[in-house]
Amino acid sequence: MPGPFSFRPGLFMNDMKITLLIAASLLAFAVPASAGDLMAGKAKAGMCVNCHELDGSSQRPDAPHIGGQLETYLAEQLHHYKSGKRKHAIMTVIAKSLSDTDIANLASWFAAIKVTRTPPD
Ligand code: HEC
Repeated sequence: MPGPFSFRPGLFMNDMKITLLIAASLLAFAVPASAGDLMAGKAKAGMCVNCHELDGSSQRPDAPHIGGQLETYLAEQLHHYKSGKRKHAIMTVIAKSLSDTDIANLASWFAAIKVTRTPPD
């Protein structure tokens, strides 16, 4: 008679399958296909170049780099500025002028910028 901690390969494989299935479906949510139109975002990004540059690599000490940032994060922050959940004198005004489609497109553009990072040795 197997004790409570005996290893049952059949059950283990079932667990593995379920775990993989859950992991795969979580991944599908975590990495959504781009929600916006990349080139429409590029066209709209003319509004952002003075502070964030067209590739999102800000040259101003007060403006953050947004190129290569997660698309979901960028869209969420723009929605937060627009709704007032996040406040900033300039970004609030800018975000209020953007439609939801503009936000999706801009997030898609800046997220698509390839950034490489090299940590120090
Ligand atoms: C006049 C300068 C200026 C312009 C133009 C501007 N931004 Fe910003 N942006 C800033 C500054 C400054 C911040 C930091 C605000 C803060 O502290 O919350 C910021 C923050 C952001 C953030 C949040 C970044 C983070 O790391 O949380 C996003 C996203 C963003 N801007 C997107 C845009 C987009 C898209 C446009 C064009 C539609 C744009 N900005 C135009 C100055 C600007």
